[in-house]
Amino acid sequence: MLVLGIETSCDETGAAVVDDAGRVLSDVVQSQVELHATYGGIIPELASRDHLRNAGPVVKEALAKAGLSLRDVDAIAVTHRPGLVGALLVGVQLAKGLAWAEGKPLVGVDHLVGHLLAVNLRRSDATPPAPAGPHVALLASGGHTATYRVDGPLARHVTELGATRDDAAGEAFDKVGKLLGLGYPGGPVIDRLATGGDPGAVKLPRPMSGRASRDFSFSGIKTHLAAWVREHGVPQGEQAMKDVCASFQAAVTSVLAEKLIEAAKAEGVGAVTIGGGVAANRELRRRVTEGAAQHGLTATLPELASCTDNAAMIAYAGLQRFVAGERDGWDLVAASRTALPRSTRKGRGHRD
Ligand code: KG4
Ligand code: ZN
Repeated sequence: MLVLGIETSCDETGAAVVDDAGRVLSDVVQSQVELHATYGGIIPELASRDHLRNAGPVVKEALAKAGLSLRDVDAIAVTHRPGLVGALLVGVQLAKGLAWAEGKPLVGVDHLVGHLLAVNLRRSDATPPAPAGPHVALLASGGHTATYRVDGPLARHVTELGATRDDAAGEAFDKVGKLLGLGYPGGPVIDRLATGGDPGAVKLPRPMSGRASRDFSFSGIKTHLAAWVREHGVPQGEQAMKDVCASFQAAVTSVLAEKLIEAAKAEGVGAVTIGGGVAANRELRRRVTEGAAQHGLTATLPELASCTDNAAMIAYAGLQRFVAGERDGWDLVAASRTALPRSTRKGRGHRD
């Protein structure tokens, strides 16, 4: 079985073909990073226009790389939430047009479910198998940060355990990157610079650490660092910059890894996974691997290309819905919010 996936929720235009074993036959990502970099963040109107320009060619390329034509795929999956609505509309409308023209089933995918299932993607024969049973997953991206209990591959099998009360982890990386004059997005640059830096150089809080709450909070670390920059100025010299990056990265990744391991123990599952752009962070990957080993848990980490936004994870999540008999009609809408039930209200803490 083959599914074509389309992803346009934010600043990457993606199309991919995936089979029912999770094998990635093709995965094309056209990034808009350079387009938005000058503005220090994503400009929604520009994102929509760029998706409109690139979505057609990206789909064509994904089919060509897989050696297939549209006729060969069994269904068309598309991200329809959450994200920038104007950006989502481009992918949703393209998916509808293609499905209509070829008489193919259409399945809408929640982007967060895509990130949670990305660990199932097989990009080579060396990819380790994903956890087969219930597990706890950390999703840390530019827009979301939460832990989930995952009991199966559909949205109804996913239960949010705790989430950020303010900034997402990736958002914190991006804001700190901007603060330090490192450009946008900050995550990959901070990851690179943190190597060889002293994580103890700047004392930063570890919000929500050691507390029973499963929630996260990252705006405090960012505020602390902003105050530090006001006092000391932007670090001059490579080593000083490395030290600040390592300190910030240690603060964020230690809390993420700690909360993931704690949630897995509390849920009584034997396995953990991670997903989302921040899951590409090498320090987070190291901490999760080590923390899991210490507590007798199996950690499965998605390959780097499966962490940041891509359409292969959308194709895979759509394939799971399709296999379960789920379909969408021509009335499929784009929505800014996830359909996954939330346990935490932004700024107000855990729901009772
Ligand atoms: O999942 P993603 O591609 O898009 C969203 O759905 O948000 O995540 C993008 C986020 C950005 O905030 C980016 O700075 C962060 O992931 N990111 C990283 C790394 N690579 C991407 N953060 C830390 N370390 C990285 N290596
Ligand atoms: Zn994403």
